[in-house]
Amino acid sequence: MSRMHRTSIDTDGDKRPVPIHGPEAFAGMRAAGRLAAMTLDHVTPMIRAGVTTAAIDRAIDAFMRAHGGVPATKGYPHREQPDNPFPASCCISVNHVVNHGIPSEDKRLREGDTLNIDVTVILNGWYGDTSRMFVVGPIERIPVKARRLIEVTYEAMWAGIRAVRPGATLGDVGHAIQKVAEAARFSVVRDFVGHGIGRVFHDAPEVRHFGKPGEGLVLRPGMFFTIEPMINAGRAEVKILADGWTTVTRDREPSAQFEHTVGVTEDGVEVFTRSPAGFERPPYAI
Ligand code: MF3
Ligand code: CO
Ligand code: CO
Repeated sequence: MSRMHRTSIDTDGDKRPVPIHGPEAFAGMRAAGRLAAMTLDHVTPMIRAGVTTAAIDRAIDAFMRAHGGVPATKGYPHREQPDNPFPASCCISVNHVVNHGIPSEDKRLREGDTLNIDVTVILNGWYGDTSRMFVVGPIERIPVKARRLIEVTYEAMWAGIRAVRPGATLGDVGHAIQKVAEAARFSVVRDFVGHGIGRVFHDAPEVRHFGKPGEGLVLRPGMFFTIEPMINAGRAEVKILADGWTTVTRDREPSAQFEHTVGVTEDGVEVFTRSPAGFERPPYAI
């Protein structure tokens, strides 16, 4: 009897093939993920009252290029607006901005703000994508609800990461995230999802941050994707502003997000974007 080989190709809900990567891809992602994480580490001391989000963006662009990387967001095409590519080297989303905030000379950070900085770098053709929350000023000056939201979002992301292993499903991952968020009476944003990643920025599969155990794609060693839950303190509904990018909560309550890029290994998960400085969640010891 001949050995059984898997002849089918795993596909996600939209029937797009989900790439299975080998050892050289893991090495490429380790390097790209590390540079993305180092980029956030690098700008962490800049996050204080009075700094503009444009200044943070310039520091991110310079750091990536100085280390042989290219910011993947700069010029990234808009889904529906061909003449409206993303103009900056990162996304900075303050307070009730959910994601895709555009850095600006007009946006100065103020004590009490909470913000997400999302960076994606291309290094030797491989994409590393990660985001973290930051707070402006002493943690005691941050509204209690926003502080709790940051904690819960961080724990929700890690609950999702811990669910990743061969044989588990994306429904298991989404469910783990949703459970943590909703136990705290917060809401999971439905309009944006994590994504496959590798030599392309946004690949199959689509990674929902909600779901039912046992449903969806079965995870296999060599799959790469992001886990990037956006959690709202109030309702889940969002709207996109006139610039075509900036997403805000409809009820103007705060939103938080953390993101890691991960790979499925033979026995679990490898996180490519862990902070070399140990900057896991705020407040950061700088
Ligand atoms: N880094 C974001 C993500 O996690 C994507 C930003 S695309 C941009 O997928 F064009 F808005 F920058
Ligand atoms: Co992402
Ligand atoms: Co990102």
